[in-house]
Amino acid sequence: MENRKPIGIFDSGLGGLTALSALRRLMPDEDIIYFGDSARIPYGTKSPAVIKKFALQDTRFLMSLGVKAILIACGTVSSNCLSDVSAVAGVPVVGVIEETARQAAEIAKGGNNRVAVLGTSATINSGAFEAELRKNGVGDIINQACPMFVPLVENWHPTADDSATNAIVSEYIAPIAKQLPDAAILGCTHYPLLANVIAKYLPETRLISSGEAAALGIKKLLTEKGLLNGFGGKTEFYTSGGEKLFSQNASRFLGEDIAVSAMHIDIENY
Ligand code: DGL
Repeated sequence: MENRKPIGIFDSGLGGLTALSALRRLMPDEDIIYFGDSARIPYGTKSPAVIKKFALQDTRFLMSLGVKAILIACGTVSSNCLSDVSAVAGVPVVGVIEETARQAAEIAKGGNNRVAVLGTSATINSGAFEAELRKNGVGDIINQACPMFVPLVENWHPTADDSATNAIVSEYIAPIAKQLPDAAILGCTHYPLLANVIAKYLPETRLISSGEAAALGIKKLLTEKGLLNGFGGKTEFYTSGGEKLFSQNASRFLGEDIAVSAMHIDIENY
């Protein structure tokens, strides 16, 4: 039966685990397959053509495992090639843009109608969050690419008082703070790991995790399509990088101390 099949999730690396963690809380009875393309991270500094090529390989890999739907837990892919992924997948696909922008617009309505978008360079250059926010009636949008955030979060354990983290975060965030946005979109699924540091520089602003919003997005979609599973609960992890490193770092992104065992695959075969 179609609804008993797993949900596929992919990201360029570990960031999508912030979406996975929200999804497991929201839908504990779903089976999930997670793929992190750690061998080729970051995506956010690459051209749209390369991002598309990688995203389609990630999609074909998940489809080869028979998933019923795909959650693109990557702001960079969602904003550059959501429709290409949908066309290749042939199953329902959700990205992080739509639900995140809807939530931000809702908050902005009660304030100055101003939203900040934080994302990778490729995400900001695509203008996808901006277009979706405008569709939802947001008048004032502050776009900020934060290219140092992904390498920082993947390779370092950032804390609210560590000086390297504060230097990098304040570089991107301090100029935005003066404009008092009502909401700031953490438009890359890696950024929730910096939320407590970003909040120090944006104390009056609501931060929205694109991973968490996307988990809600896929719940809505599966409900609408009658594809919810009431009998699953397993999660499998695959990575194109080193499985040991993936497993070691995963709990930091999942926000819980659980043992993760990842399997290596060669993504160039897809
Ligand atoms: N988690 C990806 C995103 O949401 C990170 C992008 C990257 O690999 O640069 O955009």
